[in-house]
Amino acid sequence: MTMEPRSFQLFPDSASNFAPSVDGLYTYMVVISAFFSLLVAFLIVFFAIKYRKRPGQGVPAPINDHSIGSMILEIAWSVIPLGLSLVMFAWGASIMFTESRPPKDSLNIYVTGKRWMWKIQHLEGAREINELHVPVNRDIRLTMTSEDVIHDFYVPAFRTKADVLPGRYTTEWFRPTKVGDYHIFCAEYCGTKHSGMIGWVHVMTAEDYDKWLAQGSGEGSMAEEGESLFRQLGCANCHVKDGHGRAPNLYGAFGMKVDLADGSSVRFDEAYTRESILYPQAKIVAGYDRIMPTFHGLISDEGMLKLIEYIKSLGDPNGTIQEKDLQSEPSNIQKTGTMMPDQSEMPKAPAAKTPAAPRAAASTTPTGTQQ
Ligand code: CUA
Repeated sequence: MTMEPRSFQLFPDSASNFAPSVDGLYTYMVVISAFFSLLVAFLIVFFAIKYRKRPGQGVPAPINDHSIGSMILEIAWSVIPLGLSLVMFAWGASIMFTESRPPKDSLNIYVTGKRWMWKIQHLEGAREINELHVPVNRDIRLTMTSEDVIHDFYVPAFRTKADVLPGRYTTEWFRPTKVGDYHIFCAEYCGTKHSGMIGWVHVMTAEDYDKWLAQGSGEGSMAEEGESLFRQLGCANCHVKDGHGRAPNLYGAFGMKVDLADGSSVRFDEAYTRESILYPQAKIVAGYDRIMPTFHGLISDEGMLKLIEYIKSLGDPNGTIQEKDLQSEPSNIQKTGTMMPDQSEMPKAPAAKTPAAPRAAASTTPTGTQQ
């Protein structure tokens, strides 16, 4: 993709909801720093001249001044800079809080960093490399991971950046406010071609974005591809819908609290999903055995994102979809029930010593049904 060279710019474009506040804080800090630097420099020169040693003068006696005036002066030059610095702190902290909390209804887009490119997946199935198409005036949330080393997704025009780590999910969000093309940089040294790990964000009008999405990739949505992966890997054999399978029901589970066998609990989020797929023994859900095999090495990072998207698609995190399903789809229970082995055939991990209640009992209690 070629872009027209731009004339010299002191500041990057201001193209997101964060840009005005970040620039405001930056200006404030520059003005405060410049004011005090000039004041101190001026006073050094001024006092050096004013109080210079003149011919015929001896060394003056030391000043021993405990007057109210000098105390007020000392308090003033301590308290005023303190106040000015605290403004920087509070202002910066408030921007940081906003930047670290994506709004609930953000448009989710997945980013995978890899030496030396950015791979982007849209929920609808479109995929791109080193380019990110987004609609203007819409909250965008990037869920990011890396296939190898630490990268950092940085869009100067949006005044936002975040590290992209292998084995973890980090997020970054912004609301583009201006249609246009903006640079993506990798802001973490990641090897010889780090400086070439760049790309463009294309901010489009909502209509153009819909048109762009409609061109599509020919493949299904991320959730659909995740579902076929879910079946290929055999997950569906144990994670059955009615909660009576050998593994916890995943319907309506994402975003919920999960009670674990050791008495603690964890939130069902991206990181937990990933950990449970790659290291199933790490956190055992209360009432279930340690029977899930690891899928380490069997799923790519992008495949993992599709699985996560599929599990997310299984139900509204705040909803009670599962209870409704149980009542309205009895035939489904029947169907999935036939896949269950007899109690005697249930594999039992030798090390499994969970103090939890039997499966059936756990799944009839209101909290047990969630996970
Ligand atoms: Cu990726 Cu630097």
